[in-house]
Amino acid sequence: MYKLDKFIILLVVKELFLKLYSEDETIELGKRLAKALYSATDNFIISLSGLLGAGKTTFIKGFSLGLGVENYVESPTFVFLNIYKASVPVYHYDMYRVDEVKDIDDLGIFDMVSKKGFHLFEWGEKLKDLLDFDLEIYFKILDESSREVHFKFFRLEHIIDELSFT
Ligand SMILES: Nc1ncnc2c1ncn2[C@@H]1O[C@H](COP(=O)(O)OP(=O)(O)OP(=O)(O)O)[C@@H](O)[C@H]1O
Ligand SMILES: [Mg+2]
Repeated sequence: MYKLDKFIILLVVKELFLKLYSEDETIELGKRLAKALYSATDNFIISLSGLLGAGKTTFIKGFSLGLGVENYVESPTFVFLNIYKASVPVYHYDMYRVDEVKDIDDLGIFDMVSKKGFHLFEWGEKLKDLLDFDLEIYFKILDESSREVHFKFFRLEHIIDELSFT
């Protein structure tokens, strides 16, 4: 007799690749994601990866604008976190200078992500084994003004349908 002694967990990941031909398109896509998420949840953790100048901050700017943030400042260079009040709070973390797990703990990141809001991590791949990201976004520089962006959703995959560009 067949005995089921193992559970197979099927993790369905939905992915999307898009090309962005200008900074404005990156901002627009950030806005779209924010608006789509806002109607679906008030808590979401996002990792953004890509080389220096790939567009991570630009995207987060669009995301914040999409939620009505008015006092957006560029990437936090000396501080690792900016928090914006919006319809849902936006937490913008920059992990560029943070490496050690101990530092991450000392910074209080694990407590912070449990707060209601949208948590966006530049250089989030550094926390890959420490945090459960709901979405990973990868930016690739194609040329001076074009970028390829790759979304990997681990939750609320249906949001993908609201992101496509023409
Ligand atoms: N399609 C595009 N999308 C985003 N930025 C673009 C695009 N085309 C050109 N750019 C330029 O690329 C740069 C992106 O800078 P941004 O600060 O967003 O990158 P970053 O990934 O946050 O870098 P860092 O790792 O240094 O923080 C800006 O100068 C922007 O004007
Ligand atoms: Mg940046």
